[in-house]
Amino acid sequence: MTGSPDADHRDLRLWWKSAVLYCLDIETFLDSDGDGVGDIAGLAERIDYLTELGVTCLWLMPFYPTTERDDGYDITDYYGVDPRLGSHGDLVEMIRHAKDRGLRIIVDLVVNHTSDKHPWFKSARASKDSPYRDFYIWRDTEPPDTSDKVIFPDEETSLWTFDERTGEWYLHNFYSEQPDLNIANPAVQAEVARIIGFWLELGIDGFRVDAVPYLIDAAGADEELAAQYGDPHDYLRALRKFTSRRRGDAILLGEVNLTYDAQMPFFGDAEGDELTMMFDFELMQRLYLALARRDVNPMVDTLRRRPKLNATNQFANFVRNHDELTLDKLSDDERQEVFDAFGPDPDMQLFGRGLRRRLPPMLNGDPRIIKMVYSLMFSLPGTPVLFYGEEIGMGENLAVPGRLAVRTPMQWTAGRNGGFSPAKPSRLTAPLTTGPYGPAHVNVQDQRSDPDSLLAFISLLARRYRECPEVGMGDCEVLDSGSPAVFAHRCTWNQFGGGVASSVLVHNLAPEPVEVTLALADLAPGTEVIDLFSDLSLEVGERGRLLVPVDGYGHLWLRILLPGDRRLR
Ligand code: GLC
Repeated sequence: MTGSPDADHRDLRLWWKSAVLYCLDIETFLDSDGDGVGDIAGLAERIDYLTELGVTCLWLMPFYPTTERDDGYDITDYYGVDPRLGSHGDLVEMIRHAKDRGLRIIVDLVVNHTSDKHPWFKSARASKDSPYRDFYIWRDTEPPDTSDKVIFPDEETSLWTFDERTGEWYLHNFYSEQPDLNIANPAVQAEVARIIGFWLELGIDGFRVDAVPYLIDAAGADEELAAQYGDPHDYLRALRKFTSRRRGDAILLGEVNLTYDAQMPFFGDAEGDELTMMFDFELMQRLYLALARRDVNPMVDTLRRRPKLNATNQFANFVRNHDELTLDKLSDDERQEVFDAFGPDPDMQLFGRGLRRRLPPMLNGDPRIIKMVYSLMFSLPGTPVLFYGEEIGMGENLAVPGRLAVRTPMQWTAGRNGGFSPAKPSRLTAPLTTGPYGPAHVNVQDQRSDPDSLLAFISLLARRYRECPEVGMGDCEVLDSGSPAVFAHRCTWNQFGGGVASSVLVHNLAPEPVEVTLALADLAPGTEVIDLFSDLSLEVGERGRLLVPVDGYGHLWLRILLPGDRRLR
């Protein structure tokens, strides 16, 4: 390596670019005191399980005091801990334990809005003279029709709600119980900085930043404030700067469900000085379309037009999160195709744009397809993000309303309440999944001793992903497989300390076995290629041709044994 270490970031290991993220809600993970609610002490008991799984960073969903209107995304105290889950003491102990096991932790930063029961809003709505009045966005004239802009169309009809006491309307992009903070107000900005500073000081490694486009938008702020605030991206840049000043390697992982073009400014374009990471909603949606069609083209097109990022930035890949599986970037016909394939019953759909199902039931529980999809997700350039329970193939409970269908308690054993809690079932914070995906059939304990289980597979995937930094951090080239159902891509990375790491990853979206020919023009005939999931070994032929046999729904992670690659096989 020449020059300063910063001269070529490709040579550096950035922890978030080869991390395996795991999102969980403490409330539904493990109940240690038998009151029916998961708690911090319960999570602490499972830290070893998580590290054994191969996860390297937890994303904790909101654990702050809340009125539970939006499952914790309506916060009443940014510095507090929901007393049902434990205390600050429990949290610090848990963080310490996680660190001891080499696990990082990021937490949800939900500052687009507060709960309407937050003391700031209670004060703000009590009087126009409140010092907190301008923490929120008010208008004194009848708002225009915003019914086409509401995010939860089943429950809201407007972005504005009239407040009787002071006779004005306040802005809320989400539920009416979640008034939007006025981010153009310097006093609010100072509070946001304090909140970030507080959690970093407790040892947190960064934040999953909620609803970023709404957060930085100053719409509704009065003219003077808006002028002072200026370009919203200046604010996001300042937020990143502040975070990095407090803690150099802390990340901001943003929820920005926009097209690639619109997302780029949120990374800070080529400068890369705003959000560190963003979820790739575009690719996730095209992946489902590709699965529905058994045709890789929607994914190929998307990956080929995925913008090149600054070397410090990264996309986060996922096939499930805690919200509806949104398909809002697909055309109406495309979305209908995915609905028809994976959620034809209207009760499986939500907000007209998404699905409230988990992956295994959508794939009729076929273990071959489920494993192939997770292999594909881990193999895509970026950082994989698991939602708790995905590692064992949990299903949803459609009897639970709305988005909560996929937020049922973690299934540890086949015993009472799936080992989540010893409480009476009626006291549980959320009902468990029932039927073929319930704890009797899907649980951690059974899978721990089964080498063919999904748990064993995901754990191996996590290990392979970490062993192949070229996958997370390298340059990616989508290859022409010659078969509409076979997705093949190659990842290449200059290894820290010398040598080039290169892999070819192959996934078959269809049940028929097939042999594909890949062109790897730069490789000399005779170069050895080995699969990291089987004992298959191949040799590159004339003109860099590689013949690859792929099973129905098969997956291969082919490591190219280049000179200087000293990794163990
Ligand atoms: C984000 C969260 C979602 C929440 C909303 C409002 O979209 O993912 O769960 O309801 O923000 O905070």
